[in-house]
Amino acid sequence: MECHIGVISGDGIGPEIVAEAKKVLDKAGEKYGHSFTYQDILMGGCSIDATGVPLTDEAIAAAKASDAVLMGSIGGNTQTSPWYKLAPELRPEAGLLKLRKSLNLFANLRPAYLYEELKEACPLRDDIIGDGFDMMIMRELTGGLYFGARKTEMVDGVITATDTLTYNENEIRRIAKRGFDIAMKRRKKVTSVDKANVLDSSRLWRKVVEEVAKDYPEVTYEHMLVDNCAMQLVKDPKQFDVILTENMFGDILSDEASMVTGSIGMLSSASLNDTKFGLYEPSGGSAPDIAGKGIANPIATILSAAMMLRYTFDLDKEADTIEAAVKQVLKDGYRTIDIMPQEDAKKAYVTQVGTSQMGDLICERI
Ligand code: IPM
Ligand code: MG
Repeated sequence: MECHIGVISGDGIGPEIVAEAKKVLDKAGEKYGHSFTYQDILMGGCSIDATGVPLTDEAIAAAKASDAVLMGSIGGNTQTSPWYKLAPELRPEAGLLKLRKSLNLFANLRPAYLYEELKEACPLRDDIIGDGFDMMIMRELTGGLYFGARKTEMVDGVITATDTLTYNENEIRRIAKRGFDIAMKRRKKVTSVDKANVLDSSRLWRKVVEEVAKDYPEVTYEHMLVDNCAMQLVKDPKQFDVILTENMFGDILSDEASMVTGSIGMLSSASLNDTKFGLYEPSGGSAPDIAGKGIANPIATILSAAMMLRYTFDLDKEADTIEAAVKQVLKDGYRTIDIMPQEDAKKAYVTQVGTSQMGDLICERI
């Protein structure tokens, strides 16, 4: 199969982690007879430096012309980088939001899975971890607070800022369907997360989710308030299979869920629309503090590339192989610094490696 992949390396650790994902894709391509071609696309701070804006129309066109886009990370230190002195719509993150919206990537899948081998990196107690956990956060990605009207103005001599949270029933229905579809392929449980005790948008969310649920009699579903969900994620993460939620809640809960799995450096993601196209990126940020040091964990990006093979190209066997290679490398005791065990006694059993060595070790196991 010929696969044309747009590549947004981005800023910070982005280029380092993307290079490892490409290495792993090429290795899988070699083994199974696929060819991957890559086209670099500028987005984020590097695009601001080169063009003055975080995402150009040419970049959007290039992304649209690809079968899928693999992304690293964008942005810099929000307190020190000159990018954050620019108007909000010219900052790195605005590029990502524009890309998500332009490509209609409304469904964001973020799997949070605790690897047996990384139990020590999990901050929760052993009795809470139990046999581990495996959940999928289905986050709505093109609506809500991120895309509502916003303004900052003087009201009666007082500076006042407003953001608007809007959802219509169609936006809720299409993401809810995706959530139930994915639950059918998993443990058939959906937890729909909202704030229906306060927000109108959440009350509509609940109503539409209930309608959609009727078409999925095999799926057990429940509603949970977002504050309670934040608590349940650390109290008993095993209870979750699919967490279905709106944009902002999903942003916050997915960071929390990732930390429960040990490190955000392990968390992959897929952003999908109605076609086979997808944008695949690690859930973590650009980590400017460690950029260029060769110590960033490339696993989330490598697992995102595996999601790309699965969802855009229907190459399940190839995706399985990459995921198995990641598991094996962890089993063999290799760790980047973010997933090193805390206690000295345990450190004796593992080997600390850098970004590109981790990529090589995963390739060897494919
Ligand atoms: C994420 C990120 C983005 C978001 C930022 C970079 C705009 O935090 O993908 O979770 O809030 O969606
Ligand atoms: Mg986030």
